[in-house]
Amino acid sequence: MNAQVTPFETKLLASARQTGTLLMELLSAEPRPQEITRPARLLDAMRHGALNGGKRLRPFLVVESAALFGGDSAAALRVGCALECLHSYSLVHDDLPAMDDDDLRRGQPTVHIAYDEATAILAGDSLLTYAFDIIADPETDLTDRAKTELVLALSRAAGIGGMAGGQAFDLAAEKQAPDEAGIITLQAMKTGALIRFACEAGTIIAGAPAADRDRMRRFGEIVGRAFQLADDLLDLTSDAATLGKAAGKDAARGKGTLVALKGQAWAEEELDRLVGEATALIAVYGDKAQTLTEAARFVANRKS
Ligand code: IPE
Ligand code: IPE
Ligand code: MG
Ligand code: MG
Ligand code: MG
Repeated sequence: MNAQVTPFETKLLASARQTGTLLMELLSAEPRPQEITRPARLLDAMRHGALNGGKRLRPFLVVESAALFGGDSAAALRVGCALECLHSYSLVHDDLPAMDDDDLRRGQPTVHIAYDEATAILAGDSLLTYAFDIIADPETDLTDRAKTELVLALSRAAGIGGMAGGQAFDLAAEKQAPDEAGIITLQAMKTGALIRFACEAGTIIAGAPAADRDRMRRFGEIVGRAFQLADDLLDLTSDAATLGKAAGKDAARGKGTLVALKGQAWAEEELDRLVGEATALIAVYGDKAQTLTEAARFVANRKS
């Protein structure tokens, strides 16, 4: 039943392994300078949230977008890990009873089930904070200017005008269904913004010109849109065993999704259209953009 693994998927898996190895190191028991101690149970919960699989797509996009512009690969991997910590925090909190109330994530019990709610909240808090720690850390070999730009871009992507704000819209949408434009905004924030950051980060790391930075930001916005559309489609069409998380919950909770509003056939066509738009944007980079082109296709066609 295992479909053949494509060369792209092999590349993604290899990158995911590198991300996992560095995350494991970053989440070791050894306190960093000025940290007093790392409480064992909280650290375990952070590891549960950040190390238990995951496609590691966002770090992959950071690393590949940096490579496209000749950015340092070790610095890119560290920034990718920072983003993955922040993404993992968003999932730990997304699964909480007060939010989506989910028991299964990445094929395992969610953090509040494996530990408890307070620990899940604190593990999320700590992962969020650690993201900025990793970027600022002297071991991340980038100029102060690049670091400041990364911190600013990540803050804007993750906070009230980005992921966290989008999550607030998502919960409000359960009570009052938004229109199409409202859903697009909600999704651009809750999911799109972190993926946008992943693609933009490479240009910051590489010190690429503003035109490239704008183009990669736009590329990330389109890929982010495709990403959530695929997520909403999978919620409708797939199952928990394949996804490693609950399926069929969006309709049950009355989530505001484009799949609910416009149907499955429309969503599948829209995914193709978005991949085309993303691909066209980066075609200016020629063969060098092949991996990112494949990444856009993967995001739209993924099975989990
Ligand atoms: C899931 O993200 C949450 C959404 C933004 C839809 P991913 O599908 O990237 O989850 P992992 O990291 O691979 O588990
Ligand atoms: C999650 O969207 C977005 C964030 C965690 C920011 P979903 O609620 O659709 O993600 P899943 O389906 O639980 O992974
Ligand atoms: Mg949610
Ligand atoms: Mg959810
Ligand atoms: Mg979902």
